[in-house]
Amino acid sequence: MLITTCDKTFTLQADETLLEGLERTGHEVEYQCRSGYCGSCRLKLISGQVNYPVKPLAYIGKDEILPCCCHPLTDLKIVCHLRKDTPEHNPDLFAKDLFETK
Ligand code: FES
Repeated sequence: MLITTCDKTFTLQADETLLEGLERTGHEVEYQCRSGYCGSCRLKLISGQVNYPVKPLAYIGKDEILPCCCHPLTDLKIVCHLRKDTPEHNPDLFAKDLFETK
């Protein structure tokens, strides 16, 4: 499944949850229980469909998903941003290629 956020598109791996995929790709996402109880990870869904193998206890609005426990059925577009400490936001000023000339 392709996951598109506000900042990038990535492929969700078969063995990871959407929350794990967002973490792996440097996204800022809150969490506590990681199992559908607290609602901390709640994100706005722009397009796509998910289901829940186990009905979560946390409240979910009509256009919201819980990335810790949802199962994407289609490609998704969600509102989520990269962490501010990712290389995309903080380029390495001492990286060799920044100083290379042709
Ligand atoms: S982290 Fe608690 S519901 Fe997702």
